[in-house]
Amino acid sequence: MLKTNMCGELQIKDVGTSVILAGWVARRRDHGGLTFIDLRDSSGTIQIVIKNDKLNLTEKEISQIRNEWVLGVKGIVTERQEGARNSNMPTGDIEISVNELEIINQSNTPPFPINEDLSLDETNRMKYRYLDLRRSRMNQNLKLRHDVMHFIRNFLTNKKFIEIETPILNVATPEGARDYLVPSRIHPGKFYALPQSPQQWKQLLMVSGFEKYFQIARCFRDEDLRSDRQPEFTQLDIELSFVEEKDILILIEELMVSMLKELDLGFDFPLNFPLIPYSESMEKYGSDKPDLRFDLEINDLSSVFLNTSIKIFADVLKKDQRIRGIHIPGGNKLTKKQLQEFNEIAKLHGAMGVASMHFDDDYKITKSEYDGFSSLLEKFISIDELLTLNDRFNIKPGDAIIISAGHDDLTSQVLASIRNEAASMLNLVKETDLAFCFITEFPMFEYSDSANKWTAMHHLFTMPFEEDIQYIASDPKRVRSHAYDLVCNGQEVGSGSIRIHKSELLLKILQQLGIDESIAHEQFGHVLEAFEFGAPPHGGIAPGIDRIVALLAKESDIREVIAFPKTKTASDLLTGAPSKIGTENLDELHLKIDDPSS
Ligand code: AMO
Repeated sequence: MLKTNMCGELQIKDVGTSVILAGWVARRRDHGGLTFIDLRDSSGTIQIVIKNDKLNLTEKEISQIRNEWVLGVKGIVTERQEGARNSNMPTGDIEISVNELEIINQSNTPPFPINEDLSLDETNRMKYRYLDLRRSRMNQNLKLRHDVMHFIRNFLTNKKFIEIETPILNVATPEGARDYLVPSRIHPGKFYALPQSPQQWKQLLMVSGFEKYFQIARCFRDEDLRSDRQPEFTQLDIELSFVEEKDILILIEELMVSMLKELDLGFDFPLNFPLIPYSESMEKYGSDKPDLRFDLEINDLSSVFLNTSIKIFADVLKKDQRIRGIHIPGGNKLTKKQLQEFNEIAKLHGAMGVASMHFDDDYKITKSEYDGFSSLLEKFISIDELLTLNDRFNIKPGDAIIISAGHDDLTSQVLASIRNEAASMLNLVKETDLAFCFITEFPMFEYSDSANKWTAMHHLFTMPFEEDIQYIASDPKRVRSHAYDLVCNGQEVGSGSIRIHKSELLLKILQQLGIDESIAHEQFGHVLEAFEFGAPPHGGIAPGIDRIVALLAKESDIREVIAFPKTKTASDLLTGAPSKIGTENLDELHLKIDDPSS
């Protein structure tokens, strides 16, 4: 037996027990004739005490032991003396008095310290990911990921869902992100596509009559990477038959709430997730992913400035556009530099800048005069306009208002970013809050300027509102859909919809997306045909596991909760993927490489 116990599990009640432990040297200290080693295994760390002259190894051999060497230890669990206890260590009241020590394996000096939670060079972390994962923070993150998946599997199994695996080699379909393609050896010139999600399969499983399906599914998308996007990621893919939108939202709310209760990680979270229609979310927060950990709502200020002599505002109103702003209580303490950042944010989104109004600590206003107000607009703003703002927002000394004027698309983007930035500058975000909500009633279509056509805002299988079906061709912008997102702390963590289950309606949507009937049959024939064999009404959702675990682990990048993630350029620095392949393989796959860089 290489070990009888786990290092981190031993407790004071085990004092006197003989144990065999095995693990890695986390730290060593020499105290003339005594060597103290913190021995680490997957459960934690324990101190072992070696009396150098009473051991099977020579003093020289003991002195050569270094961090990350693998040791086997036979010894007795002993209570530490008063004064030698370590309250920072779960096993800090005990130690192991070693009788026998075995050096099981040696280690090169690691490229970074494993013991300390330092900020490390990313390239090194990725290249030596197996050592990075040895660090306690990463170890904890992956354990949390396991706990999340384990909970989900139990929860859904108890509710009579069954987990079904679906193919990884699929037919390529248009729409969505770019596919990862796999050339076929047997069919020259033909390709499989890796699944962007098991969307079509899960709908086909509903036609098969399973009614309650789930899968912890790997998905692949060739898109630009960010802190919340990896080229391969994991979804909790769910689909149910004979349900309405609210049934799915209730299921997900229950899953999240009971998981958070069970994991007991010290978060505050709502027991009922608010439902916010898309249009309301865009109006109040400028985004369909609002961070509800703080207020700072966006307001329409157009009516305040109907007769304004502020020229840019008047011009905007003449164009039927709007003046929108955020009242920031206590916002006057933002520094000039921070306010300048708001202007930079506005410019990044293509606006000229933002206007700001400051109400100093001595701010006062009466019907005829004011004091302690400053703004670049001060010369042009009337006392009536200021009074209206004052009453509407119940402005207090020390507040500020940030204003963006123009087209809604632009002001939404600008103010949504400023809202988040201001909250972080003013420390309004509580780290232990998980502010969930569902965004509902998404538009069915959005116009893509780059593609010059209408595209599906969620995906093309999404069910439009019954009463809006009549507008699909005539007024697509007006068509609402039964699509919904689960949002938490300003991030989309899940997305789903009630689906179309009749081929006639699917064809209508495809037509609106510019896919004519013959192409529709070529690309979606299998789904259209399946819908002719008694497809039940159905719907589903797919929360992103990586994003959920990152939130729970308080990590800002999903790479921190993925064992072997890719870099921002979709490379794996550990194995070297993607790599070139030899001409023999290329020939076999009937491929020729046209690489402009070679
Ligand atoms: P969608 O494309 O919105 O919907 O994806 C659902 C959820 O998956 C996560 N996600 C990602 N996570 C990490 N890296 C990525 N590149 C990435 N892309 C998406 C997000 C997102 O909310 N088939 C539909 C779902 C359905 O309708 O049931 C779908 O895939 O958390």
